[in-house]
Amino acid sequence: MEEFHKVKRLPQYVFEQVNRLKASARAGGADIIDLGMGNPDLPTPKAIVDKLCEVVQDPRTHRYSSSKGIPGLRRAQAAYYARRFGVKLNPDTQVVATLGSKEGFANMAQAITAPGDVILCPNPTYPIHAFGFLMAGGVIRSMNVEPDETFFGPLERAVRHSIPKPLALIINYPSNPTAHVASLDFYKDVIAFAKKHDLIVLSDLAYSEIYFDENNPPPSVLEVPGAMDVAVEFTSMSKTFSMPGWRMGFAVGNERLISALTRVKSYLDYGAFTPIQVAATHALNGDGTDIAEVRNVYRRRRDVMVDTFGKAGFEVPPPAATMFAWAKIPEKFRHLGSLEFSKLLVEKADIAVAPGIGFGEMGDDYVRLALVENEHRIRQAARNLKRFLSTADETLHNVVSLNAHR
Ligand SMILES: Cc1ncc(COP(=O)(O)O)c(C=O)c1O
Repeated sequence: MEEFHKVKRLPQYVFEQVNRLKASARAGGADIIDLGMGNPDLPTPKAIVDKLCEVVQDPRTHRYSSSKGIPGLRRAQAAYYARRFGVKLNPDTQVVATLGSKEGFANMAQAITAPGDVILCPNPTYPIHAFGFLMAGGVIRSMNVEPDETFFGPLERAVRHSIPKPLALIINYPSNPTAHVASLDFYKDVIAFAKKHDLIVLSDLAYSEIYFDENNPPPSVLEVPGAMDVAVEFTSMSKTFSMPGWRMGFAVGNERLISALTRVKSYLDYGAFTPIQVAATHALNGDGTDIAEVRNVYRRRRDVMVDTFGKAGFEVPPPAATMFAWAKIPEKFRHLGSLEFSKLLVEKADIAVAPGIGFGEMGDDYVRLALVENEHRIRQAARNLKRFLSTADETLHNVVSLNAHR
């Protein structure tokens, strides 16, 4: 039978292939150290869990909730933006709560895309940035990720040569998977560029609070004067408060865009469970100590990884933000491509990583290492890597002969 039109546009997640291998290795008794998925392992802070437990006792909270988010939650998000970025938001018209930022992003794509609309999308990037728009009938044109002098030249060309003219530009800093961080000056240039070419700017700021230079927290694109005319920004509670399973995020910014997303969502969902929304409000109104602790844990893990992996012969550039390191595949193995290399790591080193190709073709020389195992396990991974790299020639020889016999 012919595959459905939408399903054809959604190839199997590349990560699934590594996951399957990981599951079968574990079933065979292997102790796989999992640096693959960006699934935070830290518990949600107790005060937030306690709030959920308290509120859930009230039967009035068991009814359908509010799709755009309860007023107190939207006010708390507006207060966060005022406090953290100095950005003033109207909680009624410029803030909508989403079921995680992924849902918000995907439904924004549904809301604004006409069939064939061209979207400028970083490559490599978090998959929903491209696939949200592909599902919505859009067409993707890749752009550079590095927020530096290499960014605008190719982008200008992409705008000039796209038919129809692009609808929107996606930015994601701190970046998943590359961990690049953007400055406010860069954002100023992005907004000027967007205004010149009449583009919508969609900014994914999921890692707003996971940064390691205390003096240099990632800015919001909405800090740029006039950004509100063209931009919407997505944030997430998943990483900031270690709440990935709770599914709570936000879109804020331009009223027309927020209103479009709110309309689509009003047809699709009734909002997150009210106790979750109340607990999320409590979290956002907190004093920030929990966030600082989360940052410290990731920073320590990062330092251990950079140090021990480096000593094992696997160079890992220290990320300035996010919970990921983006590491080039060692020269000897690079020709295999990131998927085959990642499979080898599971089979021969008991380590699962995310192959760079899963984030786009430009990621194929890299793997992404998530900081979701504790320091002890990261050290163990380094020992495994050292062993793996010391037998590289033999492993590669076996790969070649295996392929010859296929
Ligand atoms: C860049 C980026 N955006 C969005 C998300 C999704 O987050 P949420 O849990 O809020 O849907 C992730 C999760 O890994 C991410 O890395």
